[in-house]
Amino acid sequence: MWKNVPFFPEQASTLAGEVDALYFTFLGISVFFGLLVAGLVVFFAIRFRRRSEDEIGRPEKAGIWLEIIWSVIPLAILLAMFAWGAKVYVQAFRPPGNAIEYFVTAKQWMWKFQHPQGNREINNLHVPLGQPIRLTMTSEDVIHSFFVPAFRVKADVLPGRYTTVWFEASKVGTFHLFCAEYCGAEHSMMGGSIIVMEPADYEMWLAGRDSGPSVIASGEELFKLKACNTCHRSDSATLAPILHGVFGEEVEFEGGGTQIVDENYLRESIMNPTAKLVKGYKPLMPTYKGQMTEDEVLQLIGYIKSLASDAKEDHGAVSDSSSPDPVPDEG
Ligand code: CUA
Repeated sequence: MWKNVPFFPEQASTLAGEVDALYFTFLGISVFFGLLVAGLVVFFAIRFRRRSEDEIGRPEKAGIWLEIIWSVIPLAILLAMFAWGAKVYVQAFRPPGNAIEYFVTAKQWMWKFQHPQGNREINNLHVPLGQPIRLTMTSEDVIHSFFVPAFRVKADVLPGRYTTVWFEASKVGTFHLFCAEYCGAEHSMMGGSIIVMEPADYEMWLAGRDSGPSVIASGEELFKLKACNTCHRSDSATLAPILHGVFGEEVEFEGGGTQIVDENYLRESIMNPTAKLVKGYKPLMPTYKGQMTEDEVLQLIGYIKSLASDAKEDHGAVSDSSSPDPVPDEG
């Protein structure tokens, strides 16, 4: 009977066991000390109760060593709990380098997914087993929260910026996705499924559908369509910074300050280009606020990120050859 009561979701990701171990250990420690303190309160209340009307308590002197022991031992326990919790936290929020990136856009009241190959899904997300998956998420309207209990994964999904989660599914099956942040009338209906498949089945699933252009291809198309390429050129940094290789690097701003180029910085630069002006450039770029959907911004960022890896390969090639690449001259 108790098996049917979902007190605890099944463990279906590589992180789940770790999170549960942490959770149950903390719960155990809390219950132990809770009962110990409550028990001692009751015991002392009875043991040292006032036995006659005119009894006056004597001052008690606890030995210094007793005080040191009950300070140092809990301190050590708490620090160990902190260290363990921090380790699991870092693990949970630092996607491994080989994670494949999927895009998530939340809106009232649905989840929209895009696979790197270009496939789009609503409320369902198919993923391969045993592959780290990184989700870059944003919202088109209000705050939502992406919550898959079986993976022990939960993160707010915010309008106007990106948050990420990652997981590696360890079990084939269908796992419930919840929105875990009240987001309006149909919040409770805003759910879906993560469908974990054997890698071969996933490949077949992908092959059996019309995926459309990949994220990078869509981004490249947009890069031309929105005329980004007229200023952000690969061969000239006169009007705007070269974007090849920029992702993950540090940029310097006019008037001081630096930042590592990440998804949020790229998003800000597209929506509010003058907020942080790269050193040596004038505020020429117009804003693209309201001119692109969240999906399109994600694709554009996906494309810019892909330039990063290209450029690093190109870099080697360029430094190997002594003659510069022929540059087409344009009037
Ligand atoms: Cu979206 Cu609750």
